[in-house]
Amino acid sequence: MSGSPSPSRLALAADLIRDAEHVCVFSGAGMSAESGIPTFRDALTGLWENYRPEDLATPEGWHRDPDLVWGWYRDRAANLRKVEPNAGHRALAELGRTKRRTGGRVSIVTQNVDDLHERAGSTVDAHLHGRILGPRCEFCTYRGDPELSLATTRPRCPDCTGSLRPDVVWFGEMLPEREWAAATATIESCSALLIVGTSGVVHPAAGLPLLAAERGIPIIEVNPEPSALTPLAALHLEAAAAEVLPAIS
Ligand code: OAD
Repeated sequence: MSGSPSPSRLALAADLIRDAEHVCVFSGAGMSAESGIPTFRDALTGLWENYRPEDLATPEGWHRDPDLVWGWYRDRAANLRKVEPNAGHRALAELGRTKRRTGGRVSIVTQNVDDLHERAGSTVDAHLHGRILGPRCEFCTYRGDPELSLATTRPRCPDCTGSLRPDVVWFGEMLPEREWAAATATIESCSALLIVGTSGVVHPAAGLPLLAAERGIPIIEVNPEPSALTPLAALHLEAAAAEVLPAIS
């Protein structure tokens, strides 16, 4: 990390965002870090530093031990209930309100399975990796009440012989079609792309910012560290989301 971004870089970012009619935000786990939700890959604190993704975030892990997988997501859902949107989520929601007043808009494409953008007042256009609150049947189209995500015992599906599972995308699974279509449409058509808090290594989601870069859409990145997407960014603000987003939006 190389200290806070200079006032002139912050001013440049703020200008780009103010002048853009349609700002698209592409967010990852770092967006929610200051709310107290661990990221996946940060050294020491990242979830994948302490748990094996192949046990907890693959269809194979689910088939091997569904109770273990249910319990892990249940605990994350319970933790989500205890945390609040941070100043970064709130700044983006406020930016959305400001843009709407002037005929523009902010769209949000997130890899996060939490609901902190929504709780801050934003509408999320695409939850690429699903949602942790709101389980669904492993076999049929049944969707359970979000409250069921907090059940200590894995619920059965009322419509078939299946079990409910978290409505998240696991490694090896397809991204939800509707969310993917919404994400590509909004990223291709925005006037500025704001990438916040993602390592940019999990595909296909991580390929989306390239669609903007290929169209010459200016990209601003907020991340205390360089990421795999930094080479696409016209401006990389090396700072935490909750610190820098209120300053530029
Ligand atoms: P990662 O954990 O891979 O990356 C988090 C990024 O956030 C890193 O680049 C950090 O430097 C940055 N970061 C940390 N604190 C920050 C802060 N306060 N403000 C801004 N940035 C900060 O998380 P993702 O890129 O979201 O997939 O991970 C992508 C996917 O991998 C996740 O959606 C999840 C995971 O496996 C599924 O669950 C399918």
